[in-house]
Amino acid sequence: MQPFDFLVLGSGIAGLCYALKVAPRGRVAIVTKKDRAESNTNYAQGGIASVTSKEDSFELHVRDTLEAGAGLCKERVVRTIVEEGPARIGELIELGMQFSEREIPQSHGARELDLGREGGHSKRRILHAKDVTGREIERALLQAIAGQPNIQIFENHFAIDLITSQKLGYVGANRCLGAYVLDKLTGQVETFASPVTLLATGGCGKVYLYTTNPDIATGDGVAMAYRAGAAVANMEFIQFHPTCLYHPKAKSFLISEAVRGEGGVLKGFDGGEFMDAAHPLKSLAPRDVVARAIDSEMKKSGADHVWLDITHRPARFIIERFPNIYQTCLRYGIDITKEPIPVVPAAHYQCGGVMTNVDGETEIAGLYAVGEVACTGLHGANRLASNSLLEALVCAHRAAAKAAANLAAPVELKIPAWQSGQAHNPDEMVVVSHNWDEIRRCMWDYVGIVRTNKRLQRAQKRIANLLEEIHEYYWNFIVTSDLLELRNIATVADLIVRSALLRPESRGLNYNLDYPHPNPDWAQRDTVLRRSG
Ligand code: FAD
Ligand code: SIN
Repeated sequence: MQPFDFLVLGSGIAGLCYALKVAPRGRVAIVTKKDRAESNTNYAQGGIASVTSKEDSFELHVRDTLEAGAGLCKERVVRTIVEEGPARIGELIELGMQFSEREIPQSHGARELDLGREGGHSKRRILHAKDVTGREIERALLQAIAGQPNIQIFENHFAIDLITSQKLGYVGANRCLGAYVLDKLTGQVETFASPVTLLATGGCGKVYLYTTNPDIATGDGVAMAYRAGAAVANMEFIQFHPTCLYHPKAKSFLISEAVRGEGGVLKGFDGGEFMDAAHPLKSLAPRDVVARAIDSEMKKSGADHVWLDITHRPARFIIERFPNIYQTCLRYGIDITKEPIPVVPAAHYQCGGVMTNVDGETEIAGLYAVGEVACTGLHGANRLASNSLLEALVCAHRAAAKAAANLAAPVELKIPAWQSGQAHNPDEMVVVSHNWDEIRRCMWDYVGIVRTNKRLQRAQKRIANLLEEIHEYYWNFIVTSDLLELRNIATVADLIVRSALLRPESRGLNYNLDYPHPNPDWAQRDTVLRRSG
């Protein structure tokens, strides 16, 4: 058994920021399922939204967030996160994060932060490191962590399940006591005991066949919290990013919304600028509107993709501002300075998640959740671009302060060692990969950008069958990370479908042809699911 004062599951922006803040108060374990930088954070392109310019104001950032969120955001949470953003950004810069800067016009060489623009923002307010913001965030945070003797990172360690007092049969309020963790290199399951556990495991893009997310995004945190009895909210609001590169060899490569922020225009197969008729902000409309318009354009024309055209901007500017996008597309034979980019929408972000307050507290004592895994109420029915990294920064700080202010005694309850099934199955990989593909295709076909009740019901039946099969399998066989991820995407797929079926309206990202309009009775209602029994 490995006892720690703080257990952190995940090493993206949420986990690393939190670990740095609690480290002065005790021993910290960061458990992460691949290498330490591998996370959604590492692939973030556009940047972090925060009010840093004189032309901008908290009020405008709050208003843009509420508008994108389609009536479902919690305004108090929005205000807190927007207003605390600049202080947290300042800390990130102090840690060594290097944001892009630009020369102030007519200032004889003085420089200021270069601010980008993205969909739904009324002002330029996105701090970025060219188009590799996430890579620079991970670099700066991991470098800061490397100097911390109190923090130990366990790479290739996969958190299987949370350990809770209720699951162990203790009476009284449910408390999280740590987690069972698979060491992927040895195959052993270890017990990490801690009075405070932070879920910072990110999102669930891999539940869908096409996604911008890397392979780590299998919704493990939501699935674990749900199994542990925590409330999970608003899972129907899956955000589809409008512009993922369409190329047979490109897996999950995002073309940042910042490209549209710098003038990129969406065009149909006939060259028409179809966003002109869809929204007053045209190609820079909020993401739900753009993704739906592209979906409809593709269905109308029968084409496999639409085009994103930025060729009218000077080549030097494009290469300097978007070096990663330029180079990656060039590798696939597309010179974005000379030709339009083929793009399609793809699953991108989970707006719902483990229900928390703005301090990251869940319903289970000792369990916090921060970042994409959490549902604080900031995003409502549709996240405003670049608000995700901001939320993770602010809430990691608040969760760390809360945990430090309520320091709990070390876990004294007896925790049994993990009991695994014993069977090996030579067919395991075939079964796992077949079920994996089936779930992801089913979610893409039936629970995508445009939904209907019939399609949702069809998906629910298929996923219920798969869950049953996986459940049986899970208890009999030795666990592997593939099997664990399969179980988790099936659980999360089921939560998404059930949540979508519960919401009898179209709002933000939940667009259902059977209820094409928002229902005022649901304006302030979260879809909350808890495990029964
Ligand atoms: P992540 O960064 O995803 O980290 C999760 C961590 O948990 C990883 O280390 C993972 O390995 C680990 N983990 C998961 N499950 C387990 C397990 N069972 N056991 C152990 N470890 C586990 N947002 C913005 O605000 N601005 C942007 O410009 C932007 N661009 C994006 C571009 C792309 C391509 C993508 C995919 C997302 C983008 N987002 C952006 C969203 C944003 O990057 C994420 O929401 C945010 O980084 C999530 O941070 P996190 O710390 O919550 O999770
Ligand atoms: C992007 O760069 O388009 C992603 C921004 C985000 O997801 O917030």
